[in-house]
Amino acid sequence: MSAKLIDGKLISAAVRKQVTEETSAFTAETGVTPHLAAVLVGDDPASQVYVRNKERACRKCGLKSTLYRLSDKTTQQQLMDLVAELNADESVHGILVQLPLPDHLDSTPVLDSIRPDKDVDGFHPENVGLMLQGRPRFLPCTPHGVMKMLAHENIDTTGKHAVVIGRSDIVGKPMAGLLVQKGSDATVTICHSRTTDIAAVIRQADIVVAAVGIPEFVTGDMIKPDAVVIDVGINRVNDRLVGDVEFSAAAEKASAITPVPGGVGPMTIAMLLGNTLKAAKQSV
Ligand code: GUN
Repeated sequence: MSAKLIDGKLISAAVRKQVTEETSAFTAETGVTPHLAAVLVGDDPASQVYVRNKERACRKCGLKSTLYRLSDKTTQQQLMDLVAELNADESVHGILVQLPLPDHLDSTPVLDSIRPDKDVDGFHPENVGLMLQGRPRFLPCTPHGVMKMLAHENIDTTGKHAVVIGRSDIVGKPMAGLLVQKGSDATVTICHSRTTDIAAVIRQADIVVAAVGIPEFVTGDMIKPDAVVIDVGINRVNDRLVGDVEFSAAAEKASAITPVPGGVGPMTIAMLLGNTLKAAKQSV
């Protein structure tokens, strides 16, 4: 492997340390403990792990976290009622509804109903709009975590061709939105399942961000020599976690690459903590 490993565990630890220090100072000054309310509907195993990790990280950094576990029989109205209750609860600063929701529930009205000033995922249309206009309130955690990693590694995105693979509202679209902002100044291409000759597009990338959710979709032959490769995928294959990038082959070509696990995943959680602290600070 010739690529430098971008260590998400290390970088996220630095972010969490800063959040811990700022939380301690904020709580000492105001008497307020930042409080995240996480909502988990159903028993999707991956979501259970993610939410547990988010809760644990909150506690370690001095934030309060409350988990609302709802059965997979929960109705749309019951979920909306819980969000309304959390919106009105002044002791709650951040609300997170873990996605995906079970098939019978529609996430759009749920996410739309979260108070924008408690929307620590940054998924509310008002926050998406503010982010795209370059005046962010809450940046979405995974794309923000990726930007933090690039900055930490002193990877200059100015004028670089960044190819984002995947057009989800959680990662692909906001990732492209951040990379193209003034200050980041990348030239951005978004690829998706209908892109013609996706391999040819990826081969042009100085920076690849893979967020398709298909194990090892990006193969080594698609990586331009010395490209930076960011793998957002977390896929379980035969009880092993693999990313959206064929890691060892890509690492032979890239100048820097994120591992899975231990890459983007820990950054997502760290940025959520930062957003929850920000929400609490904005509430006083
Ligand atoms: N599911 C996968 N990633 C995320 C995330 O960042 N936030 C929420 N709420 N659900 C997710």
